[in-house]
Amino acid sequence: MSTVRLRADRSVGPIDSRLFGGFVEHLGRHVYDGIFEPGHPAADAEGFREDVIALVRELGVTTIRYPGGNFVSGYRWEDGIGPAEERPRRLDLAWRSTETNRVGLHEFSSWLDKVGSDLMLAVNLGTRGVAEALDLLEYANSAADTAWTRRRAENGHPQPFGVRMWCLGNEMDGPWQVGHRNAEDYGKLASRTAKAMRMLDSSVELVACGSSARDMPTFGSWEREVLRHTFDDVDFISCHAYYQERHGKAQEFLVSAVDTDLFVREVIAAADEIAAERGSDKRIMLSFDEWNVWYQFADDGTKSGDLVSDDWPEAPRLLEDVYNVMDAVVVGDVLITLLQHADRVRSASLAQLVNVIAPIMTEPGGPAWRQTTFFPFSLTSRLGRGEAQRLDLGDVPSIATERFGDVAAVNAVATTDAEGTSVFLVNRSAGEPADIEIDLAAIAGAAGRTVAEAWLVADDDIRARNTLAEPERVAPVALAAAREGDTLRVSLPPVAWAVVRLA
Ligand code: AHR
Repeated sequence: MSTVRLRADRSVGPIDSRLFGGFVEHLGRHVYDGIFEPGHPAADAEGFREDVIALVRELGVTTIRYPGGNFVSGYRWEDGIGPAEERPRRLDLAWRSTETNRVGLHEFSSWLDKVGSDLMLAVNLGTRGVAEALDLLEYANSAADTAWTRRRAENGHPQPFGVRMWCLGNEMDGPWQVGHRNAEDYGKLASRTAKAMRMLDSSVELVACGSSARDMPTFGSWEREVLRHTFDDVDFISCHAYYQERHGKAQEFLVSAVDTDLFVREVIAAADEIAAERGSDKRIMLSFDEWNVWYQFADDGTKSGDLVSDDWPEAPRLLEDVYNVMDAVVVGDVLITLLQHADRVRSASLAQLVNVIAPIMTEPGGPAWRQTTFFPFSLTSRLGRGEAQRLDLGDVPSIATERFGDVAAVNAVATTDAEGTSVFLVNRSAGEPADIEIDLAAIAGAAGRTVAEAWLVADDDIRARNTLAEPERVAPVALAAAREGDTLRVSLPPVAWAVVRLA
């Protein structure tokens, strides 16, 4: 590939810190034997693993969506409050597991204080409705003297939890969802729930369920119908997207973020169509509140076999994908894409956080370690703040793909905060290196800055992974990045993600 030259393009605007959110679901070994393992040598007095807390802090997740996911659609939140020994054991239909309720709202909130993230709660609109959502909101956020807030105080938290973002159910478009509804029924329920929640607490920000994937048969019509009912009541519509390599086609997988880009554009178009129908200037924002690589399907299209258990185990090993270098590059590319849309994507959650399709893995009684996907996320969260600026990709050579036609081989975005400017880059080509020159002249904040740090995630073996046996096989390495005048030069091998920080 000849040298690619990137120039500044339009400013996207401020980046909402909630773009770097995570997601914790009561699923498999995420909560139990993941973040919570009393008896582990690293457990604190409450039973939370301090080694995991340190890694979550390093990852830099700003908000954490909780407690699901599919789990929330059958969840009774009040099972998780009060004395731990009195809490009921319940069947979780979503993951065919037994939920002990040992961890609930109070414990999770305490853990969030330790990791330094904000809570984003989902209410159950699968088996429940307006009344239960109001009960939870009153319990969590009200400062008035009521039966619920007295119970909160008795349970050790006199002050409100002050939860700002609330999801109105989860993936209600999915036939797998307990309480699945069509768009009209869900839209009406979400609207009624949202109106009532705002009567109780007008400061909440509300997320209506969008599509659980861009290839859902109802995608597009779902968004329009739901927003016809909820447009005045909600602030966000959600998007969920999971990617995986299929049939060993690495190049097809490496361009997955093109799907993210199309998904965002199409949901914006649907939301703005409803705004236009109503003659409204209001702009519905996007909460990309589940995204990741997930090896969900076998090559024959069947589910990958995680849900076969029929004996309702506690904290079984489910969805414990082990990520390789390619997966990390795709995660980095999705982050670049979300930053390119930071004006409308104001919230996003990497799904999930520990053990379950996660950047952090643990072994019961053993160590915790970083998966390959940890690195682009932690570096982007640390260095990708402030304002986002698009780079002109017009001169970038293309890759021919089956799914998207010709696709730019390199993707990039710049961000600028008070301390410096970062340029994030990805080489999506499975076979060609990329020599890249970035014209810094019109990149905001880059004048007078020098290269302070530069990192590369790549490997000669694009299937290299971190495992219990070899937890540090893959890690970012220092990238040679030279600034000469207004030109910044970097060379990326095939299948590579990188960031250059000018400060
Ligand atoms: O993240 C795993 C599952 O994916 C979530 O529970 C659900 O919302 C989605 O289908």
